[in-house]
Amino acid sequence: MKRLLFIGDVVGRAGCDFLTEKLGGIKRQHGIDITIVNGENSAQGNGITRASADMLVRAGADIITTGNHAFRRKESLDIFDEEYIVRPANYPEGGCVGSGVRVLDMGAFSVAVINLMGTVYMDPLDNPFTKIDRLLEGLDTPNVFVDFHAEATSEKKAMGHYLTGRVTGVFGTHTHVQTADECILGGHTAYITDVGMVGPELSCLGVDIGPTVEMFRFRMPVKFSTAEGACFLCGTIVDFDEKKGKSHKIDRIIIR
Ligand code: FE2
Repeated sequence: MKRLLFIGDVVGRAGCDFLTEKLGGIKRQHGIDITIVNGENSAQGNGITRASADMLVRAGADIITTGNHAFRRKESLDIFDEEYIVRPANYPEGGCVGSGVRVLDMGAFSVAVINLMGTVYMDPLDNPFTKIDRLLEGLDTPNVFVDFHAEATSEKKAMGHYLTGRVTGVFGTHTHVQTADECILGGHTAYITDVGMVGPELSCLGVDIGPTVEMFRFRMPVKFSTAEGACFLCGTIVDFDEKKGKSHKIDRIIIR
């Protein structure tokens, strides 16, 4: 049996600092074998940069997943060549940097991490449901974890059910709000609609409250910045049989 930790969207410098402070202790306390972190908002002011990706790796991430802000920072697109960064696999083929699948060699076993993006209230990328069918055909490990970066809960639930018995875990990200529906689908697939975030808790998804409220009041452009104040960390821990790629247990964590 192996234990995987998945941590939701890390927001800004404050989120990176809090992850750095807490991750080592969480990994020791829970005996974590593999850590996946969503880092698409880890740069100060959105996106992911070389500096923020380095912070996540130094903090203890084995694989960094991303999402709709993956390519926001043009100056750092070369980081997608790194084996530890995965971008949504359903970006159009042919002209897009990086890879949507990474396989982590753990010695006695391996783990594939796939990143996909939803298409409901998001950019119109390739169909994530038909895309993952093709991706799964090409994998030769039973241990497959999917970060489904999506807005609509219906699309995430549908993906969880679609992949039941076919992958080890499906973790929803992007909404930054942890959901309480973690479960093992079909006695095989760990699932949660959204893992949550790492960053300032008293905020609008990690962003300063004032400008966000003003934007909703008057619909005028505002300057968003990462909120200040105490941070929290949201994640899930999954126990899985690495010989069969089958999850046995999923637990949510929130560290304040
Ligand atoms: Fe996102």
